[in-house]
Amino acid sequence: MDFEFSRLGHELASPSGISELMEDLGSALNSGEDVKMLGGGQPAHIPEVNALWRRRMEEILADPGALERMLANYDPPRGSPGFIAALVKLFRREFGWEVDESNFAVTAGGQTAFFFLFNLLAGNMPDGRRKKILLPLVPEYIGYANQGTCGEMFRAVPPKIERIGEHEFKYRVNFDRLEIGDDIAAICVSRPTNPTGNVLTDGEIAQLSDIAKVHGIPLIIDNAYGAPFPNVIFTEATPVWDEHIILTLSLSKIGLPGTRTGIVVAHPKIAAAVAGMSSVVGLSNPNIGQAIARPLVESGEILKLSNETVQPFYVEKSRLAQKWVAESFGDDFPYRVHRSEGALFLWLWFPDLPITSRELYQRLKERGVLIVPGHYFFFGLEDEAWRHRDECLRMTFTMDGPTVREGIRIIGEEVQRAWGR
Ligand SMILES: Cc1ncc(COP(=O)(O)O)c(C=O)c1O
Repeated sequence: MDFEFSRLGHELASPSGISELMEDLGSALNSGEDVKMLGGGQPAHIPEVNALWRRRMEEILADPGALERMLANYDPPRGSPGFIAALVKLFRREFGWEVDESNFAVTAGGQTAFFFLFNLLAGNMPDGRRKKILLPLVPEYIGYANQGTCGEMFRAVPPKIERIGEHEFKYRVNFDRLEIGDDIAAICVSRPTNPTGNVLTDGEIAQLSDIAKVHGIPLIIDNAYGAPFPNVIFTEATPVWDEHIILTLSLSKIGLPGTRTGIVVAHPKIAAAVAGMSSVVGLSNPNIGQAIARPLVESGEILKLSNETVQPFYVEKSRLAQKWVAESFGDDFPYRVHRSEGALFLWLWFPDLPITSRELYQRLKERGVLIVPGHYFFFGLEDEAWRHRDECLRMTFTMDGPTVREGIRIIGEEVQRAWGR
């Protein structure tokens, strides 16, 4: 039957970068075939981390009534009170932020937090205006792109590109082009950035925070890879929060993506609105991640895990991936790697690439290597013709070493073939 969908239905249900990516990821992980999956945001299965989840599940099973509380109860929509109390203490102790329970709301993953926040702040306003979310730097996280429930939700600003040495580069916020009109509802950045591994400098964040404050709008900082957990940051970066800053965190990248646990730290009005949206959309949130993580947050073990296990693991993954890129690509064709300052990806730029990154993605897929073509991450731009968008790709380095190394070798071969060499 040919069912009719609403505009919102079309917006959310038609094929998008994120749905294509999750399809590829799911089929690659479940196909049993030898696919080099360098495409998704799947965190690595780190043995020490998985051992900790197993230990926690055993503790829950051994504790009378704990399993039943976790599985057989609805939590309040704001989140499990014990988990939130533990977070409040952790943030006050670690960063000295003046936060209490009213500043927190748990969501079903960070992704859901963004759906709520964007649609809470932007879109059609009660007075008839339309507001947008400003991305001060793209490429930015593909998962935001299709979240607007009433048409185009984003305005994005292309970055300055700083070339470093022969084969490296870094994006910087182009403050000269940042304009905040009445139609901007909030500024949003991921830090570290998915897809590039960029960490906006403390200076850039301070400047964005000042701009947001002066205009009376929130600065949303997506901390999915940031401090204090999972702390997949390879450089110096000071975490910040203030009443006009909305910080989001997640338990996914520390190793619990299956539990769907996101955390919003915000002004009480925003946190309460997010909790209200959770109850309308899902009644309450998944309890399991909160139950697993609560004692680790209370004891601070989550920090030790982040700093001593998770972070060094990804530092090494990034180092090896960069080494294999240098070895495989040599000087055969022009390429640059974005400075790897955090997150789970390398962002590769092939200046003047004779084919688009979408075509490169197709060719790589035929050879059993999955990456994400770069153009998906450049949404919200007015100048659609910027060639740089089609010259980049994101590759994830979380898989086992031989897979990543072979994937990189094949990427090199296909880029070389694209150059006709
Ligand atoms: C930058 C960024 N934000 C948010 C998310 C959402 O993650 P989750 O919904 O698993 O918390 C991701 C996932 O890859 C991400 O990379």
